[in-house]
Amino acid sequence: MQNLEFPPYIRNERVKRWIAEAVALCKPDAVHFCDGSEEEYRALCDQLVASGTFIRLNPKLRPGSFLARTDPSDVARVEDRTFICSLNKEDAGPTNNWVNPKEMKATLLELFDGCMRGRTMYVVPFSMGPLGSPISYIGIEITDSAYVVVNMRIMTRMGKAVYDVLGEDGDFVPCMHSVGMPLAPGQKDVPWPCNPTKYIVHFPEERSIWSYGSGYGGNALLGKKALALRIASVIGRDEGWLAEHMLILGVQDPKGQKTYVAAAFPSACGKTNFAMLVPPKPFQEEGWKVTTVGDDIAWIKPGPDGRLYAINPEAGYFGVAPGTSYATNPNAMETIRANTIFTNVALTPEGDVWWEGMDGPPPARAIDWQGNEWTPDCGRKAAHPNGRFTAPAHQNPAIDPEWDNPKGVPIKAFIFGGRRATVVPLVYQSFNWSFGVYLGATMGSEMTAAAFGQIGEVRRDPFAMLPFIGYHMASYFNHWLDIGRRVVDPPRIFSVNWFRKDKDGNYLWPGYGENMRVLKWIVERANGRGYATESPLGYVPRYEDLDWRGLNFSKEQFQELMAIDRDLWLKEILSHEELFIKLYTRMPKEFLAMREILISNLWRSPQHWDVGGEGYST
Ligand code: GTP
Ligand code: SPV
Ligand code: MN
Repeated sequence: MQNLEFPPYIRNERVKRWIAEAVALCKPDAVHFCDGSEEEYRALCDQLVASGTFIRLNPKLRPGSFLARTDPSDVARVEDRTFICSLNKEDAGPTNNWVNPKEMKATLLELFDGCMRGRTMYVVPFSMGPLGSPISYIGIEITDSAYVVVNMRIMTRMGKAVYDVLGEDGDFVPCMHSVGMPLAPGQKDVPWPCNPTKYIVHFPEERSIWSYGSGYGGNALLGKKALALRIASVIGRDEGWLAEHMLILGVQDPKGQKTYVAAAFPSACGKTNFAMLVPPKPFQEEGWKVTTVGDDIAWIKPGPDGRLYAINPEAGYFGVAPGTSYATNPNAMETIRANTIFTNVALTPEGDVWWEGMDGPPPARAIDWQGNEWTPDCGRKAAHPNGRFTAPAHQNPAIDPEWDNPKGVPIKAFIFGGRRATVVPLVYQSFNWSFGVYLGATMGSEMTAAAFGQIGEVRRDPFAMLPFIGYHMASYFNHWLDIGRRVVDPPRIFSVNWFRKDKDGNYLWPGYGENMRVLKWIVERANGRGYATESPLGYVPRYEDLDWRGLNFSKEQFQELMAIDRDLWLKEILSHEELFIKLYTRMPKEFLAMREILISNLWRSPQHWDVGGEGYST
């Protein structure tokens, strides 16, 4: 490579030194300093088309949009290859993989040595949160993947203006990324290079990130899960705020009163859908409106008035494609009409995309996510279940006017939800903040295709943060309890489950837009209105407390959906012990008492606790 020449707008010596070190280590053929311009984006997309990584979609059907197919081995986050390398093992806690940071650095330095031979190194400056805002954090990602660059441009505020914010001595999170596939002279590249050996590594004290071997999603777009959750959660612990795997939405009632709520559901459990919810017709006609602030990550800080304010640090959506349709999520469909990157979905003969669950009949034939001929009866899925779209947030027709206000929006309620075929009722409200934190800490969910693992198996996923917490999980519980003690009028906390099934495996609840009925009750409760009765777990609505206009849903159906089975719940709560034992050294002592109270509540209750006036049956 020729001499490294920095563009004049980089004035920060630490940045320059770090880049120079990275160049010396990775030994790329060339260095490209990304400026974030439209021309640069277009040129990189053209280049990705030329190299076979991108297929340009039909500009009439999907203007400015592309399809990428990954290597079949690189389709989701790799949790078993994700490491939190704090100086002290105990600080990473038993839920994270840990390696001594010195040892890990040595491993990484060896892997990164010459890893970009034959490739271009891209230097990608980005801001999580509005550019120049005091709550934002700046990262610089060094990567050898142009796919990562174009995705980062959609997902973050990316471009050379970031260097102005950094000035001469501003702070940034260094993010090193390589697909780990150097090219020998004359060697032909493949469309999706990735190394079978993968490392997604975080150094919390140093606040740095190293990612090797994968080009996909949370493994490679390092502003997202790595910076905005794993590193930010550590910063939040130290500074007294929260970095959460949460959507943020606004609900406007017919009187024009706006209520913001934040909700944590594990990966592929409905955040994007809930954040873009379109209320049922009668609600719309009456003036109810739901707007999106964010769909995946929330940074939540106590404001000057003592209340909690949330911002979405991202600028785009990296959403699950399968299941997205005009019937389920029209706002998402409008968001992805143009200027969108699709990954691992099917290609139609007309040059558009398709996936399972899209409106209308499937195409008679298509090319599946692996590039093979596909027909509806071939027995294979056309799109990978974790196939995704990357689209700019400002294209969302339901975007909240405050979505990039650096002050954030005031949060009135937190909602925790998972994917549970049994046991967990449609909705309940925890008794208070502490019980709410207990609820979030003990939430369980069936695993999805968003990560490698046993799909369908129920696992404890506290606050939907199991794969994303950057320190000891139990210290994080204490941090949540602490926040509640410090804010004025802490938000109310709720549990929801859209995924309960009947004996034949059918969903009991229609979900999607119909979730508005539950959301309306939550908003009423959060504002000190709305009726509820007390159940062994918390407050629950009676049938008549939900607004059923426009939906045929009987009291019996509602009771099945809300039923609290004493024996199953005792089992559920007893199973929390596993988590308690695992996290014992730092577990909040309050939790032991709360668990006892829940058990004794249930112990006194009949086998089937039903809401609906009559109340109990045995
Ligand atoms: P990540 O981006 O991985 O964090 O996922 P997410 O939490 O944003 O999940 P998303 O909204 O993309 O939904 C994932 C899957 O769940 C999609 O296939 C949806 O169609 C489905 N889904 C979302 N909401 C509902 C619902 O209310 N009911 C049912 N049955 N399915 C839903
Ligand atoms: C998730 O898995 O929660 C996602 C997708 O939002 S990824 O960016 O791959 O983490
Ligand atoms: Mn997510």
